[in-house]
Amino acid sequence: MRVGVLTGGGDCPGLNAVIRAVTMKGAGEYGWEVVGFRDGWRGLLTGSLRRLGPGDVEPILTRGGTILGSSRTNPYAEEGGAEQVAKVLAAEGIDALVAIGGEDTLGVAERLWRDGVNVVGVPKTIDNDLGATDYTFGFDTAVHIATEAIDRLRTTAESHHRALVVEVMGRHAGWLALHSGLAGGASVILVPERPFAVEQVVGWVRAGFERDRAPIVVVAEGAQPDDGDEVLQTGEKDAFGHVRLGGVGHWLADELARRTGNESRAVVLGHTQRGGTPTAYDRVLATRFGLHAVAAVADGDFGTMTALRGTDIVRVPLAEATAELKTVPPERYAEAEVLFG
Ligand code: F6P
Repeated sequence: MRVGVLTGGGDCPGLNAVIRAVTMKGAGEYGWEVVGFRDGWRGLLTGSLRRLGPGDVEPILTRGGTILGSSRTNPYAEEGGAEQVAKVLAAEGIDALVAIGGEDTLGVAERLWRDGVNVVGVPKTIDNDLGATDYTFGFDTAVHIATEAIDRLRTTAESHHRALVVEVMGRHAGWLALHSGLAGGASVILVPERPFAVEQVVGWVRAGFERDRAPIVVVAEGAQPDDGDEVLQTGEKDAFGHVRLGGVGHWLADELARRTGNESRAVVLGHTQRGGTPTAYDRVLATRFGLHAVAAVADGDFGTMTALRGTDIVRVPLAEATAELKTVPPERYAEAEVLFG
């Protein structure tokens, strides 16, 4: 049996732990030949792959990023893409695929499965916004990175009696903002799910200054003011055609300075949140996902995805993973809101 593995979409700490587990169990327990396709679905279009053995993957557990490379290539967005994937799979004698990715990558996996390809999915994203699983690996690491940044920013903000706006990732879901904001004791947390009133944020920030605190505002990159202010470059595309976000942090810091009369600064954490070694929690979750994905391939249980439910790893239909984005429910936000100000 020849099994391919690939990583698609934005990189994420823990991807290598999945690749390692798939290779070690696939080659070790089942004697499969495991190959890694380079750069996500792009490798399936170009036929770019490398053989993976236990010796290649043993040292990668702690390494961030992905040794296979990643891309946002979608074969269905390219003329003849799906046919080309089928051609490459046949030419390389691939019996099954393990696709590790977020909504887009798993969406492609689901379509390919419906088109007759044997695929099992593994969910990843630092945004934790995939509906079918309680947690995705990468999220815990990103929360730790953002929390550490908030802790560090607090001491400099306090020294200068400034407000500090910390912009974290999260285009559509505010999980990262919510968890890092709670862990870092933020004065305000702003998420895409709940448009914010600037005057209310100003009130919370003023209250912090009045208690001689340096207010920390954690804002998700996709958060928006509720009064239609044109703050973001939302919708702008970069040279690769990707929609760029970001800008709310700097905009808000300027508004806070103008409206409170206090100095404010903004820090955009950006891709720092996706870099470096995964936490122990993410290493364990990613490893368990990889081991369970191999079991699903061995069982011929294709069109499924590994998912965390409570403390158990289960299999769910791939379609479930991409059906609905998991956003922060109002009651979870309300829970945090009592701590603002
Ligand atoms: O991995 C998901 C995510 O981190 C989003 O929160 C963020 O908006 C996006 O990726 C940025 O990705 P890139 O700049 O790599 O295209």
